[in-house]
This record gives sequence, structure tokens and C-alpha cells, in this order.
Amino acid sequence: MRNITIIACTALATAIFATGVMAHGDMAPQPIDTTGLEPLGEEWRATNPYRGNPKAIEIGARGYNSNCARCHGLDVKSGGMAPDLRMLESSDEGDAWFLMRIRSGAKRDDRVKMPPFEGILSQEAMWAIRSYIESQPKD
Ligand code: HEC
Repeated sequence: MRNITIIACTALATAIFATGVMAHGDMAPQPIDTTGLEPLGEEWRATNPYRGNPKAIEIGARGYNSNCARCHGLDVKSGGMAPDLRMLESSDEGDAWFLMRIRSGAKRDDRVKMPPFEGILSQEAMWAIRSYIESQPKD
């Protein structure tokens, strides 16, 4: 009997959780598990430490799809709502611009055009997403 109660509770909790997630849709920013990537510590890197790292690209794909794709497009192909991130230069300047935007988001006339991700995504997750974006073909 006790086991059945536990199973029932688990099922209920799962259902409530699933409903909560559904209700928010993909509007709620999703933290990303970056297990398997070299930890970067507190200090912000100026450039992407994971460029070309297959593990980072895999984790970044998940991070991108759950946090960025709804505006910047599936497979990083912009549908026109937001800039096409494949066009962002693979350079130190490109890295700096990427980090600034993903940390701070973007506002125009007090309207939030892109939410800030600082405090939601770890630095590891941010650079993993950058690695994934750069791994996508440009056409
Ligand atoms: C709610 C929609 C939205 C979401 C979600 C979003 N962005 Fe954006 N993003 C925008 C818009 C709109 C702009 C253009 C802002 C402007 O007008 O300056 C932008 C700009 C950028 C830029 C600068 C591009 C350039 O060419 O200047 C980067 C980099 C970027 N976003 C990365 C991301 C990443 C990475 C994610 C996911 C972690 C993300 N964005 C999530 C809407 C979004």
C-alpha cells in the first residue's frame, strides 16, 4: 500500500510539473546541464574556450534549442524575427559581442527585444551555445 501511495504521488508530481512546463511553453528560460565541459570558474572569458569542442557543440545545441530557437530560428536559421546568428563573425570581436548580448539581452525604447541570460545560463552554457552556433553551416 505504501509503495502504491509513493508511485501515485510521483505520478501526480510529474503531471503537475509537466503541466507547469506546458503552461509556460518555451517562454521560460532553461538552465543547461554542462557536465562534461571543463569548468570555467567565476571570471568571464573574453573569448570562447570551447570553439570546435564536440561536447560543447552537443550541449550547446540543447541550450540553443530550449532558449534561443524560438526567436533566432531552428538550426540557427533566422525566420526574420531576430538576427541570423550564423552571420556573427568567428573572431574575438564576435565572441565579445555574443557574450555582451547573451548576458545583457537587448532593449529598444524600454521594450525588451531579447531577455538577459545572465544568472540563468552559466558561462559554460553560454560558450557551449556559441560553439554550437558556429558549428552550423552558413547556408
Ligand atoms: C525573445 C526573443 C529572443 C530570444 C529568446 C533570444 N534572442 Fe537574441 N536577439 C533577439 C533580438 C530581437 C535581437 C536583436 C536586438 C537588437 O535589435 O539589437 C537579438 C540579438 C542577439 C544577438 C546579437 C546579434 C547581432 O547580429 O547583433 C546575439 C548574439 C543573440 N541575440 C544571441 C542570443 C542567444 C544565444 C539566445 C539564447 C540564449 C538568444 N539570443 C535568445 C531576440 C531574442
